Amino acid sequence: MNQIKNNAPVLMVNNLKVDFDCGSHIVHAVNGVSLTVMPGKITAIVGESGSGKSATALAIMNLLDPPGKIAEGEIFLSGQDFMKLSRRAQRETLGKQVGVIFQDPFESLNPRMKIGDMLIETLRINQKLSKKEAGLIGLDLLSKMKLRDVRNLMHQYPHQLSGGMCQRVMIAMAMAQRPPLLIADEPTTALDVMVQARILEEIVSLRDNCSTGILFITHDLGVVAEIADDMYIMKEGKFVEYGEVSHVFDNPSHPYTKELLQSVLCV
Ligand SMILES: Nc1ncnc2c1ncn2[C@@H]1O[C@H](COP(=O)(O)OP(=O)(O)OP(=O)(O)O)[C@@H](O)[C@H]1O
Ligand SMILES: [Mg+2]
Repeated sequence: MNQIKNNAPVLMVNNLKVDFDCGSHIVHAVNGVSLTVMPGKITAIVGESGSGKSATALAIMNLLDPPGKIAEGEIFLSGQDFMKLSRRAQRETLGKQVGVIFQDPFESLNPRMKIGDMLIETLRINQKLSKKEAGLIGLDLLSKMKLRDVRNLMHQYPHQLSGGMCQRVMIAMAMAQRPPLLIADEPTTALDVMVQARILEEIVSLRDNCSTGILFITHDLGVVAEIADDMYIMKEGKFVEYGEVSHVFDNPSHPYTKELLQSVLCV
């Protein structure tokens, strides 16, 4: 079954536009972007602050808060026309097919559930496991995130954890889900270098061992060079360049890409 799916994109976006209606004026935050994420590939979106990266990610999951809204565009998750589904079917599809790591970890953890219960529930939705088996895998996933005292952590609630710890729990949740698509928006920005390296390894292992397709949003070109396969360069709501990472690094064609690469090489 996997083989049949392997050549089909896990995510395809056509001509996506996102507007923020601010009363006196409309901000066209995303202005007609199209992208594809293939299984077993890491596709990066790189761009400066405010260029529309997070708005793109949220729109793909139909999770924009007002005044943000999708003005136009099509979104296909594993071939399914996502915007044609009911809200409820969208939530179900997201739960089964899309792992998410956001900039703000508190947004996607359930404040009323203990970390252990969240992990065990996620593991059991996606694999046939007893509670005990799921608990052991959950402990292992938390340890892989370099979290300490993981047995105790399983009994804690998100508000008892620091932001960095929540971030790592959220990544463990995404790993537990083994989703066909992972959307990671600046997943390691707030973390120290050692933890960042560990988490990037886990993301790469999802790609290589589970054939997860990964949409990886970052402003860090060093990380892109290290882990990504393809990249889109975003500026003012549009993609100005796309290609295989090595090709874009060696032959940047847009002046903005050249400027970005220059700024990295100069530091
Ligand atoms: N709630 C909002 N109301 C009005 N405008 C918004 C809102 N959220 C975002 N925007 C606008 O949308 C644009 C894109 O924002 P977005 O958060 O997608 O940028 P980003 O590329 O993710 O930036 P960063 O790298 O800082 O995370 C910004 O220019 C911003 O002005
Ligand atoms: Mg952002």
